[in-house]
Amino acid sequence: MKLFIDTANLAEIREMAWLVDGVTTNPSLVAVEKRPFREVIAEICTLVQGPVSAEATALDTDGMLAEARELAKIHKNVVVKVPMTLAGMKAVQRLAEEGIPTNATLAFSANQALLAAKCGATYVSPFVGRIDDVGGDGMELVSQILEVYEAYAFPTEVIVASVRHPQHVLQAALLGADIATVPYAILKRLFDHPLTDAGIERFLKDWKGMPR
Ligand code: E4P
Repeated sequence: MKLFIDTANLAEIREMAWLVDGVTTNPSLVAVEKRPFREVIAEICTLVQGPVSAEATALDTDGMLAEARELAKIHKNVVVKVPMTLAGMKAVQRLAEEGIPTNATLAFSANQALLAAKCGATYVSPFVGRIDDVGGDGMELVSQILEVYEAYAFPTEVIVASVRHPQHVLQAALLGADIATVPYAILKRLFDHPLTDAGIERFLKDWKGMPR
C-alpha cells in the first residue's frame, strides 16, 4: 500500500518526504498555510517525487476544467482534485480525455465511486473519518469500493482519506486499498509502540551494566 501525506504544510512534508509516495491537499489545509495556493503546490512538487493532489474549487464543469488545466501546468505530478458531483464527474471525464490525472474527492458511497471509475478518475477518495464521525462505517465503504473495482477491473486507485487514527491505516492495508493518505501526526504515530520503547530502555540499561 502506498502512503501519502495529507497536509499542505511544507515543514511536515519535508520531514516525511523520504517515506511518502505522494501528497494530498485540500482547500482547508492550504488555507491554514496563509500562502498563495499555486506557490504552495509548486513547492510541494519539488519536495516529493509523486502525485500531489490540488483541488479545483469551481462548482460548474467549465470552471473546474479551466482551473484544472491551470493546475496541471504547475508540475507534471499535479493531480486535480474534483468534488464527487455530477458537474465534477463531467469534468473528470473530459480531463481523462486530455490526459490530466484526477482525484474524485469527497466520496461517501460506493455508487459515487463506481461513477468516478466509469468517468475515468485516476483516484477516488472515500473520506472514512467523516463517515465514522456521523455514526457510519468508513472502512465498510472502502471494502465495497474495492469489491466493485475488482469485479470490473477498474484501474482507478482507492485513496483512503480522512484518516483519523493508526487503526484506519491498518484496516486500509488489510483490505488491500491502493493508498492511505495520512496526516503528519498520525504518520508519526505509526512508528510507535510502548513495548519498543520499553525494550530499548531495558536493553540500554543491561548494556550499561555490562563489564567492558
Ligand atoms: C483527503 O484528500 C482530504 O484532504 C482529507 O483526508 C480530509 O480529511 P478530514 O476529514 O480530516 O478533513
